[in-house]
Amino acid sequence: MATIELREIRKAFPKADVLKGVNLRIGDGEFVSLVGPSGCGKSTLLRIIAGLEDQTSGDVLIGGRNVGGIRPSARDLAMVFQSYALYPHLTVEENIRTPLRLRDLTTTERLPFVGPLLPSHRSKMRAIDAAVAETANTLKITQLLNRRPGHLSGGQRQRVALGRAMVRKPVAFLMDEPLSNLDAALRVHMRSELSELHRALGSTFIYVTHDQAEALTMSDRIAVMMGGEILQVATPDQVYDDPQDLRVAEFIGSPKINTLPATVDSEGRITAPGLSVRQRLHATSQDITIAVRSEHLRFCKAEEGGLSAKVVHKENLGSDVFVHARVSDMGPAGGNRVVVRVTPETAHMLHVGSPVNIDLTTKGVMAFATDNSRLANRLDSTPRPAEAAVAVGA
Ligand SMILES: Nc1ncnc2c1ncn2[C@@H]1O[C@H](COP(=O)(O)OP(=O)(O)OP(=O)(O)O)[C@@H](O)[C@H]1O
Ligand SMILES: [Mg+2]
Repeated sequence: MATIELREIRKAFPKADVLKGVNLRIGDGEFVSLVGPSGCGKSTLLRIIAGLEDQTSGDVLIGGRNVGGIRPSARDLAMVFQSYALYPHLTVEENIRTPLRLRDLTTTERLPFVGPLLPSHRSKMRAIDAAVAETANTLKITQLLNRRPGHLSGGQRQRVALGRAMVRKPVAFLMDEPLSNLDAALRVHMRSELSELHRALGSTFIYVTHDQAEALTMSDRIAVMMGGEILQVATPDQVYDDPQDLRVAEFIGSPKINTLPATVDSEGRITAPGLSVRQRLHATSQDITIAVRSEHLRFCKAEEGGLSAKVVHKENLGSDVFVHARVSDMGPAGGNRVVVRVTPETAHMLHVGSPVNIDLTTKGVMAFATDNSRLANRLDSTPRPAEAAVAVGA
């Protein structure tokens, strides 16, 4: 087990700056996901930690030790890839045993006929067999040990690949999209298995994915990457409820967060069509974007005000329905699409083409400046008496 620390990691390929100064500290036993869109540099960063790629500048520290110049096999990390990379001609047991044979047996001990005659061979093989059995037991693949990879399902192969990584008891696991070859149902199932495995092993996990749902469900913390930079590192709840950058707010969460153009007046009050937000911002007199998640919106009566819109699509998820509506208000928000999450009962009353009014008066409204940074609410956001009266009446 180990902490992993990245200090100002930069990577420039001949035609592109791929990593632009990444800093990250991962605690001992922590499960941290690197999440971001395709091409943002996640795999490059993971390969640098593993030692498979050299950084242009910056330091990687594993367990407090700078591993610059230390070759991958000596870093004591296990890497699990999207492609399982199992040996097809070996059984599951032989696949899992291979890393230990390579590490623990001498070249002579590995010889097919001579090796077993050596006195040291038997005790080493006993220890290796015990480690393989323990790993198979943890991953519940004992009954598969005699099969070859070609006779396994995708999920079983992925478990064998994990087994091969685990058996060496590495200080940390680096995983690059390990579930993306599996079908949707199995992917969801394997998420919970990976979380359980993490709890059972107590090892440090760094998990790369472009799937924000995977990151949200498994991680202790999520590092959201974009364009070679980490925009925010925080717990799943924090990146979802309290994003510090509009790009984080838009990347995390499904459906995508709703955004609407707005302005701030000279007193920090937000002005947007249909909005009567009482909180004030630190910013004054500028264009901003307000963002609000679908579950914080609700439909209201026309006389209550709100944003007038027209239903354009209903996305039925069984337990919830996402109602897509196009804002019909003229003005800056006009034409924007807004998604409101409702119960199936509410959705039954709405049809494509129905006019609706959307209440934006919610605590879930966040504001972002044109440079994507989050605008803080002012501490004096409690309504003054006159405003309070309006608010109660609204
Ligand atoms: N050896 C290389 N030479 C030049 N450019 C490279 C090299 N390896 C990666 N890149 C570029 O670096 C950028 C980041 O690549 P990387 O594989 O780290 O992205 P990623 O975030 O893992 O994407 P994905 O989600 O698609 O796997 C990409 O634009 C890629 O084209
Ligand atoms: Mg990648």
